[in-house]
Amino acid sequence: MPLLAVIGFPAAHSRSPAMQNAALEERGLTEWRYVPPIEVDPAHFEAKVRELAVGDYAGANVTVPHKEAALRLADLPKREALAIGAANTLVFTAEGIEAHNTDASGLLATLPTPRLGGRRALVLGAGGAARAAVWALSQAGAVVDIWNRTSSRADAVYDELGGYVELGGAPVETPRQEIYGIIVNTTSVGLHGEDPFTELPLHRGAFAERVVVDMVYGDRPSALLEAAADEGAFTVDGIEVLVQQGARSFEIWTGQKPDLDVMRAAARA
Ligand code: ATR
Repeated sequence: MPLLAVIGFPAAHSRSPAMQNAALEERGLTEWRYVPPIEVDPAHFEAKVRELAVGDYAGANVTVPHKEAALRLADLPKREALAIGAANTLVFTAEGIEAHNTDASGLLATLPTPRLGGRRALVLGAGGAARAAVWALSQAGAVVDIWNRTSSRADAVYDELGGYVELGGAPVETPRQEIYGIIVNTTSVGLHGEDPFTELPLHRGAFAERVVVDMVYGDRPSALLEAAADEGAFTVDGIEVLVQQGARSFEIWTGQKPDLDVMRAAARA
């Protein structure tokens, strides 16, 4: 029986098991099972992965804070994972451990158009999710600017990804919101009720006809997405990004495309 799991610290509240099991069942992959989250601290992460790889596991998802370590331990890292510096999907093969990053392609799949040639994008944040977003948007042809509260962290993202993709210019201190067709919030602002319009360099009145993605997810739309939707923006929440990255992982493991609506329903339940 091929097993799958998400490994993180913490990971107990992950929606991936429900979402992936619903998709496996819908596709008739009854011998597959996505088991409850595996919580291991960074000191035990690599040993745990190697144990799974020689057991009944076909692969795994990797989440915070192990995505960089997942890439480092892989025998067969994929190009996008190397560029981003992080992996969220592992496959245990006879040739070794493959590491993929589906956060980037998953984000692109949420956008109304996959081709962004000439459009300007603003990525807020400088953690792992920001790296995946910057890489994805650049690959799709957008000119990407990065803003982060601590600007030195934005500089680091810029330096590391700059060798792989063309970025807009230096990280921006005070972005002019009006020039961006796509805005992606990867910061944790909003997670605990913070006001996006005081913590982030964004203001109301300039969201119409834009695409606004907020990776923060909860049971209701974030304050940022609510404001953007009110003005007529195309909005994408963190659950939709989760579903799309999960769909790509599913396909990598099983070779089949999952039913997205089944995954959405399970992820939002
Ligand atoms: P990730 O989960 O993407 O890996 P992280 O490393 O946990 O990201 O960082 C969270 C992000 O939210 C950071 O970009 C952080 O900014 P700093 O680098 O300046 O710490 C950002 N963030 C958290 N709280 C914030 C706030 N109140 N205002 C602005 N940015 C904030």
